[in-house]
Amino acid sequence: MRVRTSPSLALVKYWGKKAGGRNLPATTSLAVTLAGLDTRTLVRVAAPGEGDAVQVGGELQDAARYAPFFDEARRLFHSPLHFAASSENSFPSAAGLASSSSGFAALALGCAALSGLAEGPRANALASDLARLGSASAARAVYGGFTLLPAGARRAEPLEGPAYWPDFRVVVALATREKKRDSSRGAMELTRTSSPYYAPWVRDARKVSREALAAFRDRDAQKLGELMRLSYLRMHASALAAEPPVLYWLPDSVALIKACAALRARGIGAWETMDAGPQVKVFCLAPELAAVEAALREAAPGCELIVTQPGPGPDLSAEAGPR
Ligand code: DP6
Repeated sequence: MRVRTSPSLALVKYWGKKAGGRNLPATTSLAVTLAGLDTRTLVRVAAPGEGDAVQVGGELQDAARYAPFFDEARRLFHSPLHFAASSENSFPSAAGLASSSSGFAALALGCAALSGLAEGPRANALASDLARLGSASAARAVYGGFTLLPAGARRAEPLEGPAYWPDFRVVVALATREKKRDSSRGAMELTRTSSPYYAPWVRDARKVSREALAAFRDRDAQKLGELMRLSYLRMHASALAAEPPVLYWLPDSVALIKACAALRARGIGAWETMDAGPQVKVFCLAPELAAVEAALREAAPGCELIVTQPGPGPDLSAEAGPR
């Protein structure tokens, strides 16, 4: 099974898990699937006697990280199969570009298809449930367009397709191509267990996500952009207060944040967000894209810019491919 997926960028963040295991998010996230950043994964049934195995970019992954995922795949899909997968990203992996979201979404969809589930809403819902166990953000990447993963939910909900907001653009500014040192999983757990600001973050996130969803429903870029900023800054504030502190920002990240503020002061809508890495992702509308790109380029000349927009859902094809 060949599966193409794209990463899910949270406009409003998931950061922290509900108690009790199963990787249930503590906060509601509202996200967009990004066009043109592709994860291509080949999933096949493992040969008899072979266990589950995953390679990303040619590197064999730690089996322990994937074991609960594959066990859950067999349980959910009533399948005796083991799976072998290899995955390539068209963008830097593990650099805060949500490659785990597209990676686990592809893997979940591939396992569902190989287990005999026909493509459709039921297969997508089960794949979203399974993908969440791999990475909660991956529950969203099972769908294109705009998605919601409510706090405590097992599955993401598709909200609208990519055509809902044709002018919606995201400029991804790559402050580095290096792999991040602090995985989001470890860092959010450290925040939960040691930051005095974790509980207030979770409490406040309810209001921010509710208002952001309303702004999204109104296609109100200004309001949504302001709430996006509150969401990521409060998430990072809670992480900064962890022990030891979690700081992802580089000098170029700060320069890009300031460039967005300067754009807004000139009346140009540019609202940034950041995840578990130094990259800055800027939401703007198509008519202002050129001005936004120019300002970001001037603020951080060394940073590569990738312009993207809401993307379609995953593609699956049963073609045989190289093993
Ligand atoms: C900052 O989904 O990578 O990107 O569920 O532990 O695998 P795990 O975490 P992951 O965390 C994503 C965190 C974020 C915000 C988001 O995508 O909502």
